[in-house]
Amino acid sequence: MSKPPDPAKQLRRSWDANAHAWSAAVREQKIESRRVATDAAILEAVLAHSPTRVLDVGCGEGWLIRALAARGSLLVGVDASAALIEAAREHNSGAFHVLSYAELAVRQEQVGGGFDAVVCNFSLLEEDVVPLLSALRQVSAPGGLLYVQTVHPWSACGEAAYRDGWRTETFASFGQAFVEPMPWYFRTLASWVSVVHAAGWRVAEVREPLHPETGKPLSLLLICGLSDLSANRLP
Ligand SMILES: C[S@@+](CC[C@H](N)C(=O)[O-])C[C@H]1O[C@@H](n2cnc3c(N)ncnc32)[C@H](O)[C@@H]1O
Repeated sequence: MSKPPDPAKQLRRSWDANAHAWSAAVREQKIESRRVATDAAILEAVLAHSPTRVLDVGCGEGWLIRALAARGSLLVGVDASAALIEAAREHNSGAFHVLSYAELAVRQEQVGGGFDAVVCNFSLLEEDVVPLLSALRQVSAPGGLLYVQTVHPWSACGEAAYRDGWRTETFASFGQAFVEPMPWYFRTLASWVSVVHAAGWRVAEVREPLHPETGKPLSLLLICGLSDLSANRLP
C-alpha cells in the first residue's frame, strides 16, 4: 500500500469510529493473542521492575492501567481518541489526557514526569515515531524503562515483502462492529531497533511472546533503557 494522504488523520478517524467495538473486544477478551500471551507479557515485563509511576502511551480504553492500578502505581494514560479516553475514565482511577503523539512530543509537561515505566502497547502505528520516543526520554525518570510491544514483524508480514511500509488493518477478523479500516506502518525488526536507537534509547532486552499451542511468535516486546546505560536499573 502506498502512503495514505494523511495517515495521522485517518488513524484518529479509525480509532474514534471503532472505539466502542475496540473497548468491547478488549474488555470481553475477544482477541486471542492478547488472551493467551501478549497481555500477560507486557504486565509481567512492567511489574518485574515494580514501577511507582507509569505512563501508558496510546492507552486506548485503559485495560493496562486497570491491571496496574491494583499494584498501587501512579498511572497516567494518553490517547488521541476522545472516545477511548472517555471509556478509560469510566472504568479507571488513573489520570487520562486526550493528546496526540504530535502534541505530546511538544507538550510533555501536560503528563508530568519522572515515570519509571513508559509503555507503548501496540500503539506505535505511524511511520515517524522518533519525535515521540525522543520526547518520552524527557518524561522518564533517570532509571526509567521504555516498553514497546508490537505485532511480531515475521508473523505480521504475511505475503508482502519483508520491508517497512504502510499496510491496512481492515479488522475483518474482529467482527462486523469495526466500521473504519486503519492504516498502520509495518516495521522490520531491524527498523524497530533503529528507531528506538535514533530516539536515544537502547534496547536492553528483546522478548517474543509465543502462542502456547502453535509456538508461533505473537508479538515483539522491546525493553529499552536510556542511552546512558549507567542510569539504567537493568543489570
Ligand atoms: C491497538 S490500540 C492499543 C490500545 C492500548 N495500548 C491497548 O493495549 O489496548 C492503539 C491505540 O493507539 C492510539 N494512537 C495511535 N496513534 C496515535 C497518535 N498519533 N496519538 C495518540 N494516540 C494514538 C489509538 O487511538 C489507540 O487507542
